[in-house]
Amino acid sequence: MIVAIDGPAGSGKSTIARMVAEGLGFTYVNSGSVYRAMTLRALRLGLDPKDAEAIIACSRKARIEYSGGRLRLDGADAEAELRSREVDSLVAQLSAIPKLREIVNAHVRAIAGSTDAVVEGRDMTTVVFPDADAKFYLDASAEARAARRFGQGLTGSSMEEIRKNIEMRDSIDRAKSVGSLRIAPDAEYIDSSHLTIQEVYDKVYGKILQLREDHGR
Ligand code: DC
Repeated sequence: MIVAIDGPAGSGKSTIARMVAEGLGFTYVNSGSVYRAMTLRALRLGLDPKDAEAIIACSRKARIEYSGGRLRLDGADAEAELRSREVDSLVAQLSAIPKLREIVNAHVRAIAGSTDAVVEGRDMTTVVFPDADAKFYLDASAEARAARRFGQGLTGSSMEEIRKNIEMRDSIDRAKSVGSLRIAPDAEYIDSSHLTIQEVYDKVYGKILQLREDHGR
């Protein structure tokens, strides 16, 4: 069974996807982390972000492994570096390169495709797993999302910087020629601006259980 969750930056989908995966005993796959790993690799090699050919070649050579919800890049755990300020400011731009999206999609399908998985990102419900068994779109206001990211204290940025970065990434994510952020017609839409994590979890988990019952699984 594939559970696909999409939504904008900071909508709480990573937290919810991880919790749901744990609850169901499924593999958790964060596709944003794969885009971040490709960005980190390009930064490590000092590539020019505007040189799409070099970025694509670099991404093709990346060794990505994903286990226990942790990403390994080129043989080493990369989780600690995936959410740095440098990666944050470049990842949206690089993830707009269509060829890079194909490379990342292949990784995500390889990791999740052969098992029961909860996959999350921007285009899991629309492009990567259009036939997912359960689809969700998690939304929240830009203010609520910035407050959550600030509370995580991962980047050392101010609340204002985080909100600006979120809005910048929203506009890039929505304008992408391929894999843009949009709501799949058959996705369950949840606005979490005024909901606790537990309330969102209960909605998502309840819906999945209902779908499983309907399909006799
Ligand atoms: O979910 P996140 O903020 O960690 O994602 C990092 C970036 O990757 C984000 O700017 C959008 C991009 N992304 C994407 O384009 N498609 C996905 N399926 C997941 C993430």
